[in-house]
Amino acid sequence: MTRNDHGFHQEMERLDDVPDNRSNSPTLKDRVQQDRRRFLQGSLATAVASFFMAPSSMVLAASSNPSYAGLTGAKIGFKPVPPQLAADFDSVVVPEGYSARPFFSWGDPVVRGASPWRQDASDDWQSQALQAGQNHDGMAYFPFPESPNNRGLLVINHEYINPTLHPNGFTSTKLADGSVQRPEAEVRKEQMAHGVSVIEVHKRGGEWHIVKDSSFGRRITAQTPMQLTGPAAGADLLKTASDSTGKRVLGTINNCSMGQTPWGTYLTCEENWKNYFVNRNPDDYADRREHHRYGVAQNLNSKNYAWDSVDARFNATPDESQPHLGQVNEPNRFGWVVEFDPFDPESEPKKRTALGRLVRECATVTHDKDGRVAIYSGDDTRGEYVYKFIPKDRYQRSNMKANADLLDEGTLYVAVFHDNGEGEWRALELGRYGLTPRNGFHSQADVLINARAAADIVGATPMDRPEWIAVHPSSGEVYVTLTNNKYRGNKPDQPVDAANPRKNNLHGQIVRWREEDDRVDATRFRWEIFLLAGDKPESGAPEHLTGTINGDVFSSPDGLWFDPQGRLWIQTDYGDDDAQNANMGTNQMLCADPKTREVKRFLAGPRGCEVTGVTTTPDGKAMWVNIQHPGLSYPASDRKTRARSTTVLITKTDGGVVGS
Ligand code: FEO
Ligand code: CA
Ligand code: CA
Ligand code: CA
Repeated sequence: MTRNDHGFHQEMERLDDVPDNRSNSPTLKDRVQQDRRRFLQGSLATAVASFFMAPSSMVLAASSNPSYAGLTGAKIGFKPVPPQLAADFDSVVVPEGYSARPFFSWGDPVVRGASPWRQDASDDWQSQALQAGQNHDGMAYFPFPESPNNRGLLVINHEYINPTLHPNGFTSTKLADGSVQRPEAEVRKEQMAHGVSVIEVHKRGGEWHIVKDSSFGRRITAQTPMQLTGPAAGADLLKTASDSTGKRVLGTINNCSMGQTPWGTYLTCEENWKNYFVNRNPDDYADRREHHRYGVAQNLNSKNYAWDSVDARFNATPDESQPHLGQVNEPNRFGWVVEFDPFDPESEPKKRTALGRLVRECATVTHDKDGRVAIYSGDDTRGEYVYKFIPKDRYQRSNMKANADLLDEGTLYVAVFHDNGEGEWRALELGRYGLTPRNGFHSQADVLINARAAADIVGATPMDRPEWIAVHPSSGEVYVTLTNNKYRGNKPDQPVDAANPRKNNLHGQIVRWREEDDRVDATRFRWEIFLLAGDKPESGAPEHLTGTINGDVFSSPDGLWFDPQGRLWIQTDYGDDDAQNANMGTNQMLCADPKTREVKRFLAGPRGCEVTGVTTTPDGKAMWVNIQHPGLSYPASDRKTRARSTTVLITKTDGGVVGS
């Protein structure tokens, strides 16, 4: 049986945002609610009363929050492009005076000796292991110190795969018990198309190109050996039949967004890893919060690609005959931030357990002048939370080696957005806020491996699918995209509140906050809504589809990034064939002024794509943007070549700063 390509792809897209069961076990759920009530009656009420009380209407009113008054806007100089409404639009459009050219596509050579991509997708898994993976996502440019604006490493996440990976799509055989068997060669190739690419890029004769056979070229895949480090490393919950130490793991998957540290490392984040595993024992599943709270698959096969039919590591059904119950803990070894040094191709990536286990979108790093660091993460599922990690030690600029394991010790916090515009960071620490043995937390490893369950207990605010987080380069204000949430106001555990103010929220919003006293390690903040995405008030759309955008219209903000001059770049991920998005055209990248909130459309992508991932050289004159899963034939755009996820290079024809 060959699966219908379109059906498989759609299924996968749908799974990208499936909500996870907040608490499958009734007893735990009851305990959580009891604890929440007790907490709300006690310390929270006291805490709120001690804050300045602002009217709740402030969250929708521009400039009503005095903390934003001093913000300087960045010049946004381009003439916006119109939305691309044509069903067959298969290109990338940027403003007049700019050029956009395909730079790095799925299948392009990465590692020395790699062969060029074959148009019929007949490259085998060994070839794919040296070539670019699919579904380019988060990305960062690392300059070489001697010529930062002309030579660098571009590090690119590959989130998942499409049926285009194989000549005839995903194939499988149906077995008597209803499960499917995948061909091993396909699964191996799929595993090699996940992970990260590191390429060397160089500007010569005024043109950027990829350095062929660079010694820095590297592919990290679903099979690359790496370490588990930090407080949970070595915990029983991380041990498997294949790794009795709980400290060694193969690979990283579903690498969505990222982070870039000031000490020169890249952080790749593991997002929808849960769909790659299956636990077929319903009783065990119901008891095992490490599985059910994250939505690991049940029933016949893992939800994505049925890798479990080829690779036993992805079958997380407990096996009593095996040490550590076989691979039952393998899913616990995913959902982490993975750190590596792109300048050292031999280095082993490290999964930093101190940052907690999430369906992790991003790990945005900021620091103050004294070297205090904060790392912000969104957990992208409906009704999940926003997190902040503060390393125990400071980052040392004068001793870069001292930062090597900075992310192994520190405090993980989760955000509470009160309706009055105040916010709190609550620490996920054993013994605090009910994180005790009575609630099933016996060690800090329990807390970190079950960060979601811990956040439930401390009373975090369920958000409308937190995606990327961006920090303004000078003010330190933090912005998060909440992409959409059709369950808002429709599920008892996701009531409408001030930060998530629209029932049946199909367009999403951007929320921003300022940490108390502008300290990155503050435990309190003030927040407001930067904008609600969606239709213009005059469009006649129903209230829940009407936004507050000052400028060009869009839905479902996802990628979010500040350039060094303080322009806010917003990338979208909506169904461009959904009726409510018809007027917005294809997915896009926009540029917003944090002061005036004016939004201008900078780029529109090919039909069917998502725009995600953006970085520039330090001088801002070269920008790379990812076009993920284009639907037609981009970048060939010839209506016959299979479409490929592609990194696009954008420059200004007069050589100026992109966006200025
Ligand atoms: Fe991979 Fe939440 O986007
Ligand atoms: Ca996506
Ligand atoms: Ca995303
Ligand atoms: Ca998204």
